This record gives sequence, structure tokens and C-alpha cells, in this order.
Amino acid sequence: MASEGKNLIGVDIGSSSIKVCEIREGRRGARTITRFGFHPLPAETIVDGHIINSGAVVEGLEKLFARSKRRNIALRASGHGVIIKKIAMPLMTAAELHEQINWEAEQHIPFDLDEVQVDYEVLHERPDHGQMDVLLVAAKKEEITDLINLAMEARLRPMVVDLDAFTVQNVFEAAYGPAAADQTTVLVHCGASTTTVNILADGTTAFTRDIANGGNGITEEIQRQLGIGREEAESYKCGGEGRGIVPREVPEIVNQAVEQLAGEIQRSLDFYLATSGDRDLSRICLSGGTANIQSFSEILQGRTEVPVEMLDATRVADIDEKAAVELQGRTSQAVVSIGLALRKERERN
Ligand SMILES: Nc1ncnc2c1ncn2[C@@H]1O[C@H](COP(=O)(O)OP(=O)(O)OP(=O)(O)O)[C@@H](O)[C@H]1O
Ligand SMILES: [Mg+2]
Repeated sequence: MASEGKNLIGVDIGSSSIKVCEIREGRRGARTITRFGFHPLPAETIVDGHIINSGAVVEGLEKLFARSKRRNIALRASGHGVIIKKIAMPLMTAAELHEQINWEAEQHIPFDLDEVQVDYEVLHERPDHGQMDVLLVAAKKEEITDLINLAMEARLRPMVVDLDAFTVQNVFEAAYGPAAADQTTVLVHCGASTTTVNILADGTTAFTRDIANGGNGITEEIQRQLGIGREEAESYKCGGEGRGIVPREVPEIVNQAVEQLAGEIQRSLDFYLATSGDRDLSRICLSGGTANIQSFSEILQGRTEVPVEMLDATRVADIDEKAAVELQGRTSQAVVSIGLALRKERERN
């Protein structure tokens, strides 16, 4: 592992805030989180995965890196304009697959191949069927190029670009070790505008889906029902610090909105169960800022009848004193940046 060089700095540009994480890895693989940085973004900076206010993002990045000499980063791309599919292909060698993959991608992807970057990974070989399962990822080049240019404007050097689903999986595997073959684990990462579901069966991704709902939807429901502004509603949702007493209707409104979100997650799980032949789910691991809502785990568990626990990202590394202060209350929001910070300089994208 040490030959792969230093860890990259993880940079997660989320729709509500930028998160930055640095991990130092010793020669024997012992990891320490040495820095966590957080910069809130104004509303409407990023809408539907598109960066509308790039000035605000560049300014945030410059602030977060003002005192950092290191500039090589691993960057999170939003799932918009990205298609992830598990496909079955005839068994073939790596060289044959390399030849075939674009033709295969054309059959499965509704974009023009010239406009997308295609990546793939063999998940399983099934020699008795003469087949193998391949994970196909296609991302629109334009979206990725825009993101990279923006990071470069802030004088950063993006070396790796990754998606929420896979960075969360990276953290899960580093925290708990490879999943047992007979376990099906559901990773649910719930941010401000998106909830990502990634189902791991036999240790690999069997299903992913982005749901366009998250913490913003809950805040909007409070705004609507109480007739108040966004900032006030947001603060009541998070416990009302600095705003005095939280109106007594708030917990009920939050629970209703969480119920609805849990229903959407349930529909993804139902779809997976109906199409995969898998019979049951072992557990759900929850992360992202919206996972901080106290009732979330309980409501999701009630709805799905699958045990729900918080993904404990602190298991991947020791945390030094300074970083511990910076991470206070934000560990579940930090998960994607931690997953990115696990990536190495000399790793291929
Ligand atoms: N203590 C808390 N209680 C309730 N909600 C919280 C709390 N802390 C953060 N949140 C919510 O979590 C969301 C932000 O989470 P996160 O940082 O994971 O999202 P993001 O990465 O900015 O968004 P996305 O990935 O969807 O673009 C916001 O909706 C915020 O209100
Ligand atoms: Mg996010």
C-alpha cells in the first residue's frame, strides 16, 4: 500500500457545504485524520447537481485551502449525468473486455458515447453460466470537466473523481472490513438534496440509486407548514440553537417528512428484492448530514423492518486532537470526504 504514495486530500462539494478531509497514513497502514474543514454554501449555489454559483464554490475552496501547501485532491462528482448499471456479459479476458466495453455501453446508456467517460469493473465471474457481471459507470464528460476546471480555478489539482455511492462504500469497507459473502448491506447516504442507496451483496455493489430528496425537503416542509423562512426552518430542524424555543409542531413535521423519505428508500429496496432474487437484507448503514435527525434510524427501521445503524466512519482512522474538534457533531456529514481522503496519489481513477 505504501508504494501507492501519499493520500490525496478529500474534497466533497455538496449542495449545502464543502467538506475537506486529510488523512495521514503511516508505513504500517495506521491512519490518522489530521484535518477536517467545513464551509457552508449559500442556498441555490448548486441546483439539481449543477453548480450555478461557481464564484461561491471557488471562494469556499480558497478559504479551506488558504493554509495548505498540498494541492492534490480527490473530488466528489454529483450523480447527475452519471449512469451506473450492473450488466451481464459473456466470460472473456480483460483485453477482450476492454475491446468490447464501448459497444456494450452503447446498448445500455442513453447518451452519445462521445459525450461520456466510460469506466467498468468486473464484479463476479460465473463460469458455470459462461457469464460475468460487470459494473458499468458512464459519466457525462461536460459535467466532470466543469467540476475539474472549477477546482483548478481554486489552484487545486484533482487526481481522482468519485461518486458518493462508492466513497461511502470505501469508508464502510475500511471501517468494518469486507462484507461477509452471505450478508446484504444497504448503505444509505442522506445529504441535503440527494439520498444515495448502494446495496452490497457478496461484497460488491448489486444496486445503486440516487433519490432526489434529502434534508432540504424536510426543511421545506417546515417552512411550508409554519409559514417561515428557510434559515429559521433549517435551524429549528437542527434543534433550534440560537433561535429560542422550537415550535412544538416541528418534531411532528420532521417525522412526517422522514416517513416520506423512508418510503422512497423502501421502494428502492423493494425493487432490488423483486429483481435480484435476494431474499432478505441484513442491515442498513446510515450516513450523511440528514442521518443526524434523531428519529431517522427508528422510522427507517420501522418502515423497512431491517436493522438500522449509523455508519461509524471514525473506525477508519485515529483522529488527532485538532481534527477531533473540527469534526465535532459532523462525523456523518464527513463520510464522503473521509472516503475520498482514503484514496492515494498513485492510484488510477
Ligand atoms: N443535527 C442535524 N439535524 C438535522 N439535520 C441536519 C443536522 N446536521 C445537518 N443536517 C442536515 O444535513 C444536510 C446536509 O448534509 P450533507 O452535508 O451530508 O449534505 P450535502 O453534501 O451538502 O448535500 P448533497 O450531497 O445532497 O448535495 C442539510 O439538509 C442539513 O440540514
Ligand atoms: Mg453530500
